[in-house]
Amino acid sequence: MSTNNDADRHLVIRGLRVAPAAAREKEILQGIDLDVGPGEVHAIMGPNGSGKTTLAYALMGHPAYLVTGGEVTKNPDIDPTDAIKGGVSMLDFRRRMREKLALLKMDEAFVSRYVNDGFSGGEKKRLEMLQMAMLNPQMAILDETDSGLDIDALRIVAEGVNAMLNPDLGVLLITHYQRLLNHIKPDVVHVLAQGRIVKSGGKDLALRLEDEGYGPILREAGLEVNVPDDALRLDEPAVLAH
Ligand SMILES: Nc1ncnc2c1ncn2[C@@H]1O[C@H](COP(=O)(O)OP(=O)(O)OP(=O)(O)O)[C@@H](O)[C@H]1O
Ligand SMILES: [Mg+2]
Repeated sequence: MSTNNDADRHLVIRGLRVAPAAAREKEILQGIDLDVGPGEVHAIMGPNGSGKTTLAYALMGHPAYLVTGGEVTKNPDIDPTDAIKGGVSMLDFRRRMREKLALLKMDEAFVSRYVNDGFSGGEKKRLEMLQMAMLNPQMAILDETDSGLDIDALRIVAEGVNAMLNPDLGVLLITHYQRLLNHIKPDVVHVLAQGRIVKSGGKDLALRLEDEGYGPILREAGLEVNVPDDALRLDEPAVLAH
């Protein structure tokens, strides 16, 4: 079976334009093209405010974001927004949950708490990893940028993702941190800036970003850069470590 056929892809995005529902005239995403196939890990990097989280939310159908153009085609059997895929018996569920808790080094008491109720950013990430491990999805969209992960949490996310990688799983991984990509090997790295993907490449692209920051790549793409290059350097999780 050809993997170049759109029908075999998990996620196909063409010319996607997105605006906040509350401010339709302010388009955040201005024509995104992206293809994620089975077994592929795509990393999305980009400066603050470039539209990374907006992309994740739009793909998940968040009501605060309005698709104003283009289209998103999800393989009908693999909808990353549908959490109820691949039903499993309660007994099986508990057995798998215990396994996954151990894998993610999580306390079992976590699961008796409400999702997102009183969790720190790092704990929420572990919980997301747990949910993902439980659901064994074929397409995962991960946005870790808001959580201020320290190095240990970053490693746990990386271990969680790596433990789940398989030839069927497609991953869209949104990150500020080149360092995360030392742990999770992406097949493709995309740079998002001012609502567009301005460059795509291999892992070497992430290394170049770590080295140079975003300034030179944005200028190459013909974008106006009106902040000093130092402000476009990549965030370092070490700075956020507690
Ligand atoms: N609901 C909203 N209403 C109005 N503006 C919004 C909304 N959500 C995002 N924006 C704006 O859209 C732009 C992109 O935001 P987004 O959160 O997608 O960036 P990001 O790339 O995830 O940034 P970061 O690296 O800081 O996480 C920003 O200028 C932000 O202020
Ligand atoms: Mg974000």
